[in-house]
Amino acid sequence: MLSLFSSVETYLCKALERSLPDLGLIPGNSCLSIDPQLVSASKPEFGDFQANCALSLAKKMKRSPRDIANAIVEQLEEDDDFLEICEIPKIAGPGFINLTIRNECLIKELKDRLGDDRLGVPHNVVNKGKDQASSVVVDFSSPNIAKEMHVGHLRSTIIGDCLSRVLEFLGHSVVRVNHVGDWGTQFGMLITHLNEVSPQALHKADSVDLGDLVAFYREAKKRFDDDEHFRTKSRHEVVKLQGGDLLALKAWQLLCDQSRREFQKIYDRLNISIHERGESFYNPYLKSVVDELTTKHLVVTDQGAKCVFLQEKSQDSRKAPPVIVQKKDGGFNYATTDLAALRYRFKQTPEGDGATRVIYVTDAGQANHFDGVFQVAQRANWIPEQGRVQHVPFGLVLGDDGKKLKTRSGETVRLCDLLDEAVDRAKIDLCRRLNEEGREEDQAFINKVSTTVGLASVKYADLSQNRITNYQFSFDRMLSLQGNTAPYLLYACVRISGIARKGGDLETTGDNLSFCERYEWDLVRQILKFDEIIIQVEEELLPNRLCNYLFELSQVFNRFYDQVPVLKAEQPFRNSRLVLCRLTAETLRLGLGLLGIPTLDRM
Ligand code: ARG
Repeated sequence: MLSLFSSVETYLCKALERSLPDLGLIPGNSCLSIDPQLVSASKPEFGDFQANCALSLAKKMKRSPRDIANAIVEQLEEDDDFLEICEIPKIAGPGFINLTIRNECLIKELKDRLGDDRLGVPHNVVNKGKDQASSVVVDFSSPNIAKEMHVGHLRSTIIGDCLSRVLEFLGHSVVRVNHVGDWGTQFGMLITHLNEVSPQALHKADSVDLGDLVAFYREAKKRFDDDEHFRTKSRHEVVKLQGGDLLALKAWQLLCDQSRREFQKIYDRLNISIHERGESFYNPYLKSVVDELTTKHLVVTDQGAKCVFLQEKSQDSRKAPPVIVQKKDGGFNYATTDLAALRYRFKQTPEGDGATRVIYVTDAGQANHFDGVFQVAQRANWIPEQGRVQHVPFGLVLGDDGKKLKTRSGETVRLCDLLDEAVDRAKIDLCRRLNEEGREEDQAFINKVSTTVGLASVKYADLSQNRITNYQFSFDRMLSLQGNTAPYLLYACVRISGIARKGGDLETTGDNLSFCERYEWDLVRQILKFDEIIIQVEEELLPNRLCNYLFELSQVFNRFYDQVPVLKAEQPFRNSRLVLCRLTAETLRLGLGLLGIPTLDRM
């Protein structure tokens, strides 16, 4: 209903403008800047929209809010164009103006949705003109080489993919970047250790798997911490690698390939596309980052390390530690790489990505790191005037015990095991249900449904939480057919496909649309809210907004379908109701698609 919303807003501005003389104000430029404060109605009984400006104007003008609301409503009632869209406005409470869209107008909107594969969602690039096609970098997933990808990376992967999908759908050109940890001291120790215990891993592809590599990494780290001699050798190895030593580079390459293959298996299963551009990519730029910061007088040498001290935010009395851009031993670190990456991403092509917005999806624990990096980049003038840079933080994944998710033996949970278990459990649930219903299905069906449901459940459980909060991982909850879960939403789609199988023509056209039941209008309104939600997700980067909307849509649909006959109804109601079924299914399919979840016809 975005277009209706903006029309109503325009009429309200005009009415405000016209009512100002009555209110003792002179019309002029200043009045145009009065915001009618139009919002979606907080409750269905308040109509569709609600204008709140009378309250704040009342204070300024020392008049009662009701007076002001009355004056505005009087003007609205004289505007025939407005009355084509809205019913006569009602004033509620101290002076809220409640606005209800006319039924004919809702029906017209609904008709426009038929045959519109964007379901009313604007295409920003088309709207703003080609030149404004903005490029957005989404930095997500980003696991570390030679380490296991953990649930934190899974959250980043799922949330980052969803945000990328929404931005792409809105017409942005999105660069999905996998900023993998593929550089730094860990390789020195790993190569040194492998040279002694398993040299073939450094010379021959495929000779170790990631599990072994992770174990080797742990051993190497232990030796590094305990053994002075090993430390020296490792540091030497890093210098060789960074200096471009061919053997060291070859070994590094093999280790990266090994991890990459394992990561790719997870991406393939989850249908995630992402482009790898790891930390090593920025290696050639690190020195110039420090040089540029130095020239710009931002660097202070403190105990041998080159630092940028942060400007404190006035409210925050805690002193943030400085961003260290070069260590005492000359090495660069995580922050230096992120500064190089940020500079690169905003730089115009071909030297950079030419982005207008850069988004980082990581756990909330890295918030201070990004605060620091963004501030330094800002002061170095690496963020263009219209540029936006945002950290999208998320909370921890907790186990049943409310603590960070671990296996029973206390180790980090391997992602492939976690996905396997989701699919296995979905299969058990499905087989039990088939049994209860006395249905027979072949193995292909069972595999397809349980894979889709299992993976969808993991994704949806993550996306449906407000990402800032920690969330408790529970297979039972996420796989349940009841509640705000993937199976509940998928089941609503299945129900609608079932209507088609029973002879309902879901391709039906929108001639003679006619509704008579409250449940029908509730569904009409819910369907028409889709565009607004997508724009909200683009702005706030909160996928749970979309999940909540789709959950509500399924609930409103189920209520409608339980209360109102569809296939047995007389015309024109039968057709009109089939149109509602069709648009519900299309909205669910598109919405779930933007969450990275495919739908099913049967389950
Ligand atoms: N590799 C990092 C980690 O595992 C995440 C990287 C996030 N992206 C970035 N540009 N720093 O925590």
